[in-house]
Amino acid sequence: MSDGVYERLGGRKGIRAVVNDFYETLTEDDELSGFFEDADVGRLKDAQTEFLCEAAGGPESYDGEAVREAHVDVPLEPSDVRRAVAVLRETLESHGVSEDDVDAVTAVIAARERELVADGTP
Ligand code: HEM
Repeated sequence: MSDGVYERLGGRKGIRAVVNDFYETLTEDDELSGFFEDADVGRLKDAQTEFLCEAAGGPESYDGEAVREAHVDVPLEPSDVRRAVAVLRETLESHGVSEDDVDAVTAVIAARERELVADGTP
């Protein structure tokens, strides 16, 4: 990701605020809320905050479960991942993030699609 994304997002605090709103919307989304019925959303937000902070060039390092292992029991389809990426895009835009930075951050999640979807290969 290009330099300065972490700073432009407002560092850990700004990224945390985006992640909070992202998961509020995901858990209320008609297509995706069902996946989160039994989820510990606090843990998911913590994991996503670390993941995006690192991806944005911050000092954090994501040390959560590998993305494939974390979702091995979650029956996500490619369309679900794309829907989540669209929600993330809207959330970043609502936080006033520039188009280039929105593209860069959403690309990080979109790039993990194959690891997120249930394809039977843990
Ligand atoms: C690539 C970035 C992502 C990371 C780093 C990540 C991380 C995680 C982690 C660590 C867990 C396990 C949480 C726990 O042990 O309690 C998890 C579970 C889960 N993730 Fe993700 N996730 C990502 C993207 C997504 C996306 C795009 C979706 C789309 C809807 C998603 C949906 C879920 C769901 C439904 C669970 C299971 C919740 C449960 O029932 O416990 N994740 N994720």
